[in-house]
Amino acid sequence: MLGDLKLKDILIMGIESSCDETSIAVVKNGREVLSNIINSQIKIHEEYGGVVPEIASRCHTEVINLIMKQALKEAKVSLDNIDAIAVTQGPGLVGALLVGVSYAKGLSYVTNKPLVAVNHIEGHIAGNYLTHKDLEPPFICLIISGGHTHLVNVKSYNDFEILGKTKDDAIGEAFDKVARVVGLGYPGGPKVDNLAKEGESNINLPITHFDNLDFSFSGIKTAVINLNHKNPNINKADLCASFQTAVTEMLTNNVRKAVKIYNSNKIVIAGGVSRNSFIRKSFDDLAKELKIKVYYPEPILCTDNAAMIAGAGYYNFINGERADLKLNAIPNLKIGE
Ligand code: KG4
Ligand code: ZN
Repeated sequence: MLGDLKLKDILIMGIESSCDETSIAVVKNGREVLSNIINSQIKIHEEYGGVVPEIASRCHTEVINLIMKQALKEAKVSLDNIDAIAVTQGPGLVGALLVGVSYAKGLSYVTNKPLVAVNHIEGHIAGNYLTHKDLEPPFICLIISGGHTHLVNVKSYNDFEILGKTKDDAIGEAFDKVARVVGLGYPGGPKVDNLAKEGESNINLPITHFDNLDFSFSGIKTAVINLNHKNPNINKADLCASFQTAVTEMLTNNVRKAVKIYNSNKIVIAGGVSRNSFIRKSFDDLAKELKIKVYYPEPILCTDNAAMIAGAGYYNFINGERADLKLNAIPNLKIGE
């Protein structure tokens, strides 16, 4: 079967609705983005200071069919040309996930196209395959997003070993909380990134060191909140710069350890927080120090999007993985499951 499939291009439609972005994309052979339509709900959730799950689900329902039509139009293909429909099964908000999963099942049923389930975190990793056409496993991957902080040994396109993860907050969550406390609003990551450029990293914050490859961000976050509370006139730019330095040190320490243990020659960074300019600069420096290569997705493929889901879906599809109409959303789906 694989032999036949390789004779022609494989077009995967990806569907993503795990949080506050409704996105549908068409990707060729797991590497080439033909379209990637993203409808962000950020403006709607902004006034509540964070994502409201019920509103997110309703917004997905309102736009998903329109987004699908736009994705086909921009890719200049019809549903007939699509080889399989890949959808985010989890992790994420259950109501939000269900919109994408139900829609994908309906589409698969009426078009008689195969359905493929995708783990959102594996999708983030695949964002790098779309940006770097020459990138192939094995590599060490650091996934840093609003909901996840994972260090993963990517052994092949379909074989993942979790090496470490956060014991408390996800790094993006800590960025968003710090931003809210210092008065920058939601979503905070990009705002902390920008303000930190005007400051000095001159405040010492507590970094927890573990013997294994796990992370912890809540101690750093709480220290920032307490400092800001005790001294409301504290220089916010310095506070943001110091926060970034501390969380980045935690990231680079573990990645340095993992690269040495696994004798890896590639580091791949993924997820929304991989847009951060200070984190990118720090990993560029680490790669030079270790004389290895570092990869990041292009900015639009760092945050949630369906092209990365189609990319991961392609590798599941050619691996023979198929879902059926019993497919359900799994809000706490683990990578590799
Ligand atoms: O990957 P993503 O879109 O969603 C999840 O799967 O969680 O990541 C969103 C997160 C948010 O916490 C946002 O604040 C953060 O990525 N983020 C950033 C930057 N851009 C987005 N964090 C730090 N610096 C940035 N430039
Ligand atoms: Zn994500």
